[in-house]
Amino acid sequence: MKPIRVAVVGLRFGMAHIEGALGCGAEIAAICDCNEDNLRFAGERYSIPEEKRFADYRALLSRGDIDAAVIAVPDQWHRELTCAFLRAGKHVLCEKPMALTREDTMAMVRAADETGRKLMVGQICRFTPAFEKAKALVESGVLGELYFLESEYAHDYMKIVDNWRADPLRHGVIGGGCHAVDLLRWLGGDPVEVFAYGTKRLLPQVPYDDATVAVLKFGENTMGKVFVSTGCKRDYTMRTVLYGTKGTLICDNTSPTMTLFTAGEDGMAHAPEIIGVEVNNHNAVREFEAFAEAVAGDAPVLTDAREGAKTVAVCHAIIESARTGKPVRPDYAF
Ligand SMILES: NC(=O)c1ccc[n+]([C@@H]2O[C@H](COP(=O)([O-])OP(=O)(O)OC[C@H]3O[C@@H](n4cnc5c(N)ncnc54)[C@H](O)[C@@H]3O)[C@@H](O)[C@H]2O)c1
Repeated sequence: MKPIRVAVVGLRFGMAHIEGALGCGAEIAAICDCNEDNLRFAGERYSIPEEKRFADYRALLSRGDIDAAVIAVPDQWHRELTCAFLRAGKHVLCEKPMALTREDTMAMVRAADETGRKLMVGQICRFTPAFEKAKALVESGVLGELYFLESEYAHDYMKIVDNWRADPLRHGVIGGGCHAVDLLRWLGGDPVEVFAYGTKRLLPQVPYDDATVAVLKFGENTMGKVFVSTGCKRDYTMRTVLYGTKGTLICDNTSPTMTLFTAGEDGMAHAPEIIGVEVNNHNAVREFEAFAEAVAGDAPVLTDAREGAKTVAVCHAIIESARTGKPVRPDYAF
């Protein structure tokens, strides 16, 4: 298989994508950042020659030596850059959240549809070893049918929120909470209704709630909960618990073990099985590998434009419910 030739745009978290791409044999055809210092830093760090360093992404669009672009710029720019690269015939791996507004997600879905290029949204939790294992266990049937699933995104943003993350549209439920929402959608399907409460006590520098709890209705017999705290006083966690009719799984993206309870013949859960798992909550290599495989073959990407947009739609429903005090049904019509 010929290595995919990729341009990485946005060189802060984007450096994880350079490592992801290099880690699975891709070729870095270009790097781009409008900040000179960040461009130079990444260029030197990964020994990218001067002629492959660009300050303006538009210089990359007509190049024939680029198959795909990674978009790792602030969320407000995702739509413009993603649509530009798609319409220039490139495949795109765009960072999460796909975008901050419904209008933007719809424009990105349209651009992917109209160009036939692959658009993957970087919902990296789907490549976290503990969550990949959780997905496999759910599919194996060992938990029976899920009746309650919960995930939390607790991550202290105190020191990193004084910038584009303070945009009122970049509510914590979209910015970071989209990880927990996407994980529950992946494991439990699309919630049909949500109800949420929010509080604002910890991050004076943002205009939105810094903690939100939402209950989700997945179907007649399955419910869920998402908790998002971006001012929490603790280390990063995405503790996730899946309750099924035959067993229960407790896991996290920051824990080296997961705990599995299964019911014996008497219907009772006895001593749990402790399963060891690699801690890798930003598995950029596996994520890029999945993208490159989909680009090279006929397979669709795991988190395509509609998947990314549906996750944002659930986040919007949660924010609206917390604001209005009413249950909200996410709008999945893309
Ligand atoms: N998957 C994850 O867990 C994860 C973690 C961190 C960030 N992210 C996402 O990655 C993206 C970038 O986040 P970050 O933390 O690196 O932000 P950042 O502000 O630290 O860095 C953004 C970089 O993009 C550059 N940039 C901004 N606009 C640009 C443009 N139009 N053209 C070229 N370069 C531009 C900036 O100069 C800067 O170097 C965001 O979408 C964020 O939500 C995802």
